[in-house]
Amino acid sequence: MALFRRKEKKLEDKSMKYGVDLYTLSNPTSTIAEQFKTIRTNIQFSMIDRKLETLLVTSAGPSEGKSTVSSNLAVTWAGQGKNVLLVDADLRRPTVHQTFQVSNSQGLTTLLTNPKLNLDQAITETAIDHLYVLPSGPIPPNPAELLATERMNHLIEALKEHFDLVLFDVPPVISVTDTQILASKVDGTILVTPQGIVEKAAILKAKELLDKVHARILGTVMNRVTPQNSGGYYGGYYGGYYGTDDKK
Ligand SMILES: Nc1ncnc2c1ncn2[C@@H]1O[C@H](COP(=O)(O)OP(=O)(O)O)[C@@H](O)[C@H]1O
Ligand SMILES: [Mg+2]
Repeated sequence: MALFRRKEKKLEDKSMKYGVDLYTLSNPTSTIAEQFKTIRTNIQFSMIDRKLETLLVTSAGPSEGKSTVSSNLAVTWAGQGKNVLLVDADLRRPTVHQTFQVSNSQGLTTLLTNPKLNLDQAITETAIDHLYVLPSGPIPPNPAELLATERMNHLIEALKEHFDLVLFDVPPVISVTDTQILASKVDGTILVTPQGIVEKAAILKAKELLDKVHARILGTVMNRVTPQNSGGYYGGYYGGYYGTDDKK
């Protein structure tokens, strides 16, 4: 158990230090890239008669692939020619600035705390056509409070005017309230479930917390992160996207 915990910690630190792998960029013809296209299409189908301008990717616990899925999904969506903004709203363990190699001195937190700052001073173009990122900015002492402000609502409205899709990378839903706060403000939520390692109870708990704030769960993405099965090596890929869950 202690060994497993250590491994998990190492993984988290790895994505915080180096960002996550952009398989969709490095390997655009791979199965994984194809699966991300399928996920994108399924999300679009699930919202066919509704507006889909803001989307959030979360999971029950840490290090389950939220940032990997949101970053690769952002790349895939931008590949369609839509202007996409990936927002790092994980104000506890941000990775987007590392993944896309942009400065993190300005970002979501500085936009929320400094009214004089313009959007374009914090949003950065990436090397990928149509893809922009808003990094977290410096980590604040009070992430949940910041995300719950009226200014955050205004910011989301402003971002929607500038981009076709705004995608939020957020913390795990079980450990902190940040994600519940944001899930109530966006059009759709995707739940990442790493195959094999998350107990059913954790997924049910995550769903319960999201339901509580009337989040619109569009579906789940199975991500095969199984450190204990692969001895630290990942052969994992994305198992796909499972139906909508909006019969509330
Ligand atoms: N399907 C996968 N195959 C291989 N590595 C993965 C996969 N999903 C995630 N990882 C790796 O696992 C670690 C945690 O993923 P990350 O996306 O940062 O999780 P989270 O954002 O949920 O904390 C990272 O090092 C990432 O590169
Ligand atoms: Mg993350």
